[in-house]
Amino acid sequence: MEQKEQWSSKLGFILAAAGSAIGLGAIWKFPYVAGTSGGGIFLLIFILFTLLVGLPLLIGEFIIGRSTQKDAIESYKELAPNSSWHFIGRLGIFTCFILLSFYSVVGGWILIYIYKGFTGALNGLTEVQYGTLFGETISSPFLSIFGQFLFMAITIYVVSRGVTAGIEKASQFMMPALFILFLLIIIRSLTLEGSMKGLEFFLNPDLSKITSDTILFAMGQSFFTLSVGVSVMVTYSSYLSKKESIPQSAISIVVMNILVAVLAGLAIFPAVFSFGLKPDAGPVLLFNVLPTVFNQIPFGIVFLLAFLILFLFAALTSAFSMLEIIVAVLAKGDDSKRMKYSWIIGLLIFVVGVPSALSYGVWSDVLIFKKSIFDAADYLVSNLLLPLGALLIAIFVPMKISKERLVEEISSGSSIGKKIFATWFLLIKYLVPVVIVIVYLDVLGVFDY
Ligand code: PHE
Repeated sequence: MEQKEQWSSKLGFILAAAGSAIGLGAIWKFPYVAGTSGGGIFLLIFILFTLLVGLPLLIGEFIIGRSTQKDAIESYKELAPNSSWHFIGRLGIFTCFILLSFYSVVGGWILIYIYKGFTGALNGLTEVQYGTLFGETISSPFLSIFGQFLFMAITIYVVSRGVTAGIEKASQFMMPALFILFLLIIIRSLTLEGSMKGLEFFLNPDLSKITSDTILFAMGQSFFTLSVGVSVMVTYSSYLSKKESIPQSAISIVVMNILVAVLAGLAIFPAVFSFGLKPDAGPVLLFNVLPTVFNQIPFGIVFLLAFLILFLFAALTSAFSMLEIIVAVLAKGDDSKRMKYSWIIGLLIFVVGVPSALSYGVWSDVLIFKKSIFDAADYLVSNLLLPLGALLIAIFVPMKISKERLVEEISSGSSIGKKIFATWFLLIKYLVPVVIVIVYLDVLGVFDY
């Protein structure tokens, strides 16, 4: 029998899965959504969702993937033959398609900023000038589409070369370096005058700011940053060897993810308040604020460039996973098909993403449900498709996988699996689906009076 390609080491898998998880979600999206959704209270709800809802789902996806060693569609077919459950995988593929279409737009912004950094255009501006420069950059149709194209081309190239060769290698060195740079920015940010107000905004939860949207966005954000609900983690763990511990891997990914989100918030909010900027600037927040902070550090431009490059890596390793799950389904282990489908699908995603790229410039007045095309695509993915996928996975796992098999998968590789099994089972079977449904009913206004 053909031996399925596996991760070369446990670290390889964790790095790749963490690489998928940690990306624009934790570094770029988390701070701006926290900024528009009440700061500290958003952080608190986000952490609760991540631990109580996201983590059980992540373990669930790992079990589906590793127990079948199959892709996002075949795995469901094996566990629930002659049924429609493989719809979960198809939904995940559709979601990743839309997700990557606007994700690559932001990836493009990073690439353009790296280029600008090298040309000296990012040296020594004021916070207002940085804001203007970024606004000009993303509203230029040429720059934003070109950046998006380049980002997709890199993604396609790496995915077309196959999973262990591409993804694992690229994920190896990014994390520690990113942590160190974040610490540097945080130190500078916290020593700016007036920074404590930002710390207060980010760390002190104000209960009166809870709204149904805060809760919905925190839930969507927790799924988004963990890459759950789309069967990406099913696909990645299908390459995981039986010797490794699923809960251990899942917990380390969750912890790293929360840590990066907190670091990003600590880097940004103190500076926002110190510079007198607004925390609710939206998707432009990070790009407006961080260059200003780096500008206050000796040799700041060097650190800013290093940061942008690591940030790009984080975004790319997530993008790889989105394209990988689609290509894995189509290529079914055939290398020549992998090459072909990576390019076909990747280029299609690029084309579908062009309207999102234009929505900060020439198409900024095109609105869908009062949102720009970019924001509408993000809303569709984060707040509708991801929770729907997550809900279905939470129903599928306890219903379609036997308890013996669940126990076996969760306990192999370490003793913690047996200890947490009962709690995990209760969470995924009851808490996760109930919470997702309640959040929706709340958004629909069922609990209003
Ligand atoms: N987790 C990734 C990020 O935070 C985004 C992602 C979501 C990737 C779903 C794959 C699947 O950037």
